[in-house]
Amino acid sequence: MTRIKQFATIGADVPRLDGWEKVTGKAQYIGDIRTPGAWIGGTLRSPVARGRLRSIRKDDAFDWSKVVCLTAKDLPGPNSVSMVRDDLPILAADEIRFATQPLAIVAAPDSGTLAEALRRLYADIEELPPVLTMEDSVSLKEIVYPPDNIIMEYRIDCGDPDKGFSTSDSIIEGTYRTGYQEHIYLETQGVVANPLRDGGIDVFGSMQCPYYVHNALCKGLALPPEKVIVRQTVTGGAFGGKEDYPSVLALHASLLALKSGHPVRFTHDRKEDILCSTKRHPSLIRHRTGVMRNGTLVAADIDILLDGGAYTTMSIVVLQRAALHATGGYRFPNARIRARAVATNTPPNGAFRGFGVPQSIFAIERQMDAIAKKLEMDPLDVRLSNAMNEGDIFPFGQRLRQGVPVRDILERAATLSGYREKRLKCQNDCGEKRKGIGIALGVHGSGFTGSGEQKIAGTAKVRWNRDSTVDVLVSSVEMGQGASTVLPMIASEALGIPVSRIRHLLPDTSEVPNSGPTVASRTTMYVGRMVADACRNLLEKLTEYAAFGADAATPGLSVRDGCISDVSGNVLGAIEEIAQRFLNEKEELSGVSSFHPEYAAQWDDASFRGEAYKAYGWIATVSEVEVDRGTCEIVPLETTCVVDAGVAIHPVLAEGQVEGGALQALGWAYLEDLPCERGRYLTGHLNAYLIPTSQDAPKFTVEFVHNPSPDGPYGAKGLGELPMDAGAPSIASAVECATGAHPTAIPITGEVLYTLLNEGAGKKP
Ligand code: MOS
Repeated sequence: MTRIKQFATIGADVPRLDGWEKVTGKAQYIGDIRTPGAWIGGTLRSPVARGRLRSIRKDDAFDWSKVVCLTAKDLPGPNSVSMVRDDLPILAADEIRFATQPLAIVAAPDSGTLAEALRRLYADIEELPPVLTMEDSVSLKEIVYPPDNIIMEYRIDCGDPDKGFSTSDSIIEGTYRTGYQEHIYLETQGVVANPLRDGGIDVFGSMQCPYYVHNALCKGLALPPEKVIVRQTVTGGAFGGKEDYPSVLALHASLLALKSGHPVRFTHDRKEDILCSTKRHPSLIRHRTGVMRNGTLVAADIDILLDGGAYTTMSIVVLQRAALHATGGYRFPNARIRARAVATNTPPNGAFRGFGVPQSIFAIERQMDAIAKKLEMDPLDVRLSNAMNEGDIFPFGQRLRQGVPVRDILERAATLSGYREKRLKCQNDCGEKRKGIGIALGVHGSGFTGSGEQKIAGTAKVRWNRDSTVDVLVSSVEMGQGASTVLPMIASEALGIPVSRIRHLLPDTSEVPNSGPTVASRTTMYVGRMVADACRNLLEKLTEYAAFGADAATPGLSVRDGCISDVSGNVLGAIEEIAQRFLNEKEELSGVSSFHPEYAAQWDDASFRGEAYKAYGWIATVSEVEVDRGTCEIVPLETTCVVDAGVAIHPVLAEGQVEGGALQALGWAYLEDLPCERGRYLTGHLNAYLIPTSQDAPKFTVEFVHNPSPDGPYGAKGLGELPMDAGAPSIASAVECATGAHPTAIPITGEVLYTLLNEGAGKKP
């Protein structure tokens, strides 16, 4: 890949700015940072899924003066971890709603004493009958989330679905299920809380959203904002798993630190991390689709259930995304969508790359395959004839304004992968090992849903230092995805200086403005644009200064080739030189930009209609697999992704995002199995919870189409989550092609496939 012609930096494969420190081991993850005198924190957790906590008894034989121990009674502020809805308790008070729920926290000078103290705590619990499945939750077997077990519900209607169904040639029904998924970031959760002399707290650790943690600490500790400092440390992956959960750990560590007067370190080993942290929401989605004989989609009736677990955490916003992406990338003149997140007595489910969309896309894409089968069409042709394009309207009322190359990317993915030939060939395959190929279409709204970007109203700052380096000051984090390279590239382009002089610093809430959380595929598109605008703001200051001195304010100057020129093109000087002069006179040279109201989406929260996202990313994923009918093993051979993310700011990093996300989606589809029994996950180890390794990775082919968006910096749209969306249905489709079985649920483990094959091809489980 070469850089894009009109740009100096955008489109170039700049070496990762965080790469050197990471490959040399210099980067300091939370586990590497020495904290002399720090105590270690640990948690007493509920062994039962639902119950009443009568008391927590301390064994008198233990010397409790050696440690600090806190229960719900000891909290200085409200007993809730502030998130979307503040219902998750910091520590269970009288009610227990999930197994592993924290009941008490302990800090001790060493791990031996900590373990001993935790063993000497006895929780007296009256067990209550739990609700463990979405079906039992909906049927109100028990009320576990008053008043009706429904965390949130959305409805979307368009056209006249009843009329649509009555005029359809046929109606096709399907029920689809997706399972849990654990993030398995390389680095497990961890924070350190350091008590400050003024009664405040300094928390540092592995996280995506420093200001979410800051907010939760201010509320939970009843401290004013200036007494709480949150600093991100180098973070080894997150995938959504460090969006909500670090607020819980940070509160626990801070409470113990403030109580003991010592720094307190709270980290999870892999077992505690898998058993206790948040997971992807399992889903149960029903589709009824009215179609014409030629494959034209007429009407959709979609019922979405997401398992939220015991408390709200992120479920409301995950559900919004699931509902808005229910019809995938297809035109439906008539639709009725009902989406509910329901509560069960299982650990709260949270953010995971895709945020409700992979579940919805799995269901609609499997349904498209079912439609193709019924109409005896190729799955690709049904998709091509219904794919959205400019002018088409989503069920929630948004008209696609910009040209969308949906058909092009489907065709291109088919060509690159040899889809049509391989599809024909696999129909005649008859050996024990059979190949199959499947295609799926994914779509993902960039940035926060609806009015979210306007509400969070992020701010970015860039600072020109005396040594002519520039700092990008945002709360958006590097977590492996490349933000600390991509944001400086955007600043480099905007300022006209080399990217090597620009740094994205680890966010510290006492230093950086709140650019919002690092979520929702928003960093490149939304924070990137704020950074570009902040750079322009800085240049404006410089050009005014160059022409008229430090206090003047007159527009009309321009920046070209690193020089500032006046309206008639006379060069006033090089940026560096003018910046030096500026800094000789003034304390600081910086530029700031906040979210512009004119960037806002036209969205109505009350009716849940309007412009849900300013831009959408699109992906076609084709997967080829080999299935062994004897062992029921599925081996992904090749995966081809053709992607519209607007403009790939950094093609190599973008390709990495696509390969990584697609592999994560494949793992979710056929390998990653997290059984939950009596509300407890059964696989607390990576020898039981299998994820794809490099050995399991298929050969990837990734291609980007160039389709600049007017809504992102230099044409970029969101990319991070998109590759997660279409991988799973492409695998299911390929397995169907290879075996004739019709998988409607994932993961398609060997056991599941064995059952499908032995029940007869095409029959539902
Ligand atoms: Mo994300 S799954 O929006 O952290």
